[in-house]
Amino acid sequence: MARLLLGVTGGIAAYKSVLLVRLATAAGHQVRVIQTPTSQRFVAPETFRAITGAPVLTDEFEPDPLRGAFPGDPLPTHAAISHLALVENADAFLIAPATANAIAGLATGRADSLLSSAYLAADCPVLVAPAMNHRMWHHPATVRNVARLREDGAVVIDPGSGALASKGEHGDGRVAEPDELLAAVESAFAGGSAASSAGAPVAQDLAGVRVLVSAGGTREPIDAVRFVGNRSSGRMGYAVAERAAARGATVTVAAANVGLPDPAGCTVVPVSTAEELRVACATAFDDADVLVMAAAVADFRPVDPSAGKIKKQGRTGMTIELEATADILIELSGRRRDGQTLVGFAAEHGDQAVVHARDKLVRKGLDAVVVNDVSQPGIAFDAADNAVTIVTAAGDRVVARAAKADIADAILDDVVAARAR
Ligand code: CTP
Repeated sequence: MARLLLGVTGGIAAYKSVLLVRLATAAGHQVRVIQTPTSQRFVAPETFRAITGAPVLTDEFEPDPLRGAFPGDPLPTHAAISHLALVENADAFLIAPATANAIAGLATGRADSLLSSAYLAADCPVLVAPAMNHRMWHHPATVRNVARLREDGAVVIDPGSGALASKGEHGDGRVAEPDELLAAVESAFAGGSAASSAGAPVAQDLAGVRVLVSAGGTREPIDAVRFVGNRSSGRMGYAVAERAAARGATVTVAAANVGLPDPAGCTVVPVSTAEELRVACATAFDDADVLVMAAAVADFRPVDPSAGKIKKQGRTGMTIELEATADILIELSGRRRDGQTLVGFAAEHGDQAVVHARDKLVRKGLDAVVVNDVSQPGIAFDAADNAVTIVTAAGDRVVARAAKADIADAILDDVVAARAR
C-alpha cells in the first residue's frame, strides 16, 4: 500500500478522478483528496469522501479531522497544518485534472489555495495531469507554464487526443484515462524517494472469498451516558479487513465503536454492545468463508443498566452487578460448516500468553489464534504497530513487530494456507 494525495481542480474531467480513486483504493492504496472550490461544482466532496473513507479538504483554515493522516493510519496527537502534513505523509501527489488556470498558478509559485500551498510544500514525487480545450492547451502561455512545471521537477502526464467536452470539438487536451493515471502514480511510488512496495501488484489470493471481520471494542451500558468498555481502537481489525479486500476478498466488518475511516472496499456494519456484535456476526456468518474475530468483546455486562443518568447525590459508593455475555466465537464455531476458517484473537499478559492461546484454540474450536502480548509497551492497543504469535494446530509462528497492515498480511497468509489444506 502507498499513500496518494490527489488534488482535484475545476474541470469537467473531475469525474475521471473519481474513477481513479476507485482504482487506487481497490489496488490497496490509501488516498486523501484536496479539492479546489471550483472543482466542487463538478464533483461533490461527498463522492470522494465515500470512496476514500476520509474527509476531503478544500480550505487551509478548515481543520483536518484526520490531522494529516491517511485512512487506516494512526491519528497524530497534535492538529497539523493541513497543506504541510498531507504532503509530508504522501508517497506521491497527483493533481488531476489540472486546469489551465491551476497550471498557471503552480508554474508561478502562487500559494493562494490549500492545493497550491501543498504543491509548494511537497517533496514527494508530484504529477500533474492537464485537462482543457485544445486551443487552451496549445496557447503559448500554457505551453510556457507546462514547460516550467517540468523544469521544476513535476511529471506532466500528457493529455490524450479525441472528442473534447465542447460539442463537436476534437483535439489534444483530454485528461489521461484513470488506468493511465494510476500507472503513472504507481511508477512514481516505485521510483520515488519514499520507499514503498506499493508499485508491486497485490496477489489476488483471496479472490472470491467472503471474509467477515469483527473490529473494535464493545461498550456495555451502565446508564444512559456511562459504559463498561475497553481500549481496543479497531486498527488491527480494520487492517485485516483492508488487506483482505486488497487481496480480492469480499469483506464485511462488524465494527464496535471504531472511530476510524471505513476500511477501503469493505462493507461496515456498526454495532456497540456485545449482544449487537453477536447478532451482526451471527447474521453474516453463514455466508462467510472466513471469520477473523479481532474485536475485544466484553465478557461481562451490567445486569440492570439504568435508562436515565445515575445521580451521584447522596451516594458514598456504588456496586454494579455484572453478568456474563455470550461467547460469540464459541457459538459460531459450534455451527460452522465445512470450508469455513475461523481465526480468533487473544489479548494475553506475560509469559503464559501462548499457553493460554493454545487453550483458546481448542476450547473455541478455531483454526488459528493470534496472540497479542499486551504487557509489551508500544504495540497492540491503539498503537500503529503490533507483534503477534499465530498459534495453529500445526505450531506457533512469531511475527516480529511491524505495521498492523503487515501483521494483517501475515495472518491472511496463514488463512490462505489453512484453506489450501
Ligand atoms: N470473544 C468472543 N466473545 C466473547 C469474548 C471473546 O467471541 N464474549 C472472542 C474475541 O473476539 C477473541 C477471542 O474470543 O477473538 C478471545 O478473546 P479473549 O478476550 O482473549 O478471551 P476470553 O475468551 O474472553 O478469555 P479471557 O478473558 O479469560 O482470556
